[in-house]
Amino acid sequence: MAEIVIVRDEQEAGGLIADAIVALITGKPDAVLGLATGSTPLATYRALAERIGERRIDVRGVRGFALDEYVGLPAGHPESYRAVITREVVEPLGLTPELVRVPNGDPTGIEHAGRDYEAAITAAGGVDLQILGIGRTGHIGFNEPGSSLASLTRVKTLTAPTRADNARFFDSPDDVPMHCITQGIGTILRARHLVLLAFGEAKAPAVAAAVEGPVSASQPGSAIQLHPHATVVVDEAAASRL
Ligand code: GLP
Repeated sequence: MAEIVIVRDEQEAGGLIADAIVALITGKPDAVLGLATGSTPLATYRALAERIGERRIDVRGVRGFALDEYVGLPAGHPESYRAVITREVVEPLGLTPELVRVPNGDPTGIEHAGRDYEAAITAAGGVDLQILGIGRTGHIGFNEPGSSLASLTRVKTLTAPTRADNARFFDSPDDVPMHCITQGIGTILRARHLVLLAFGEAKAPAVAAAVEGPVSASQPGSAIQLHPHATVVVDEAAASRL
């Protein structure tokens, strides 16, 4: 059973997780962070940037792996997850850009991209702390319902609800890519500590299915129940169906 922490709001969650990450980095200056995109972890990244600045923590050796990327966006597109991770994480935290990887969503060579990413994570010694959001469909990373619980990094097709949810970041819903490359559920489960965050009523069904439902590929978030060290940090609204 995952450890459940109910917080007042995203800011309190961000502070708690930032403290855990600071403790990790202090003990292991080349710690490997698993980075999520989406709006959910933004307060965590802000809190972490504050602590790093105030306490002058040396993060030059910290490494990072993003969960996922769209396939086929032009290089430098502001909503590519490479751009988002640079803007929201690498720059505010002062991480070393070369040490933070994002799956390669360039269609050229995409057939090798999953294998290469897995090899890079393994070569880094695995992820120490993986930050996770959860989609309304129950997806973690971009592992939509039906994803194998043993899956590794690969190309997937986005579902219509996920494309609709992410349309807010694009000029038109038609601009949301059809495909993505995402760490698999098996990849995510190899991280040493999972921290799943969710806020707001809309996430309540996905949180309940992840925490209390049967472990099933139809609810990818439920895979956290297979992990020996998973922490779920939610506000009252996201916890309302537990
Ligand atoms: C996105 C990302 C996920 C994220 C989820 C929730 O599409 N690929 O990694 O956890 O959907 O997004 P948000 O945090 O904006 O609700």
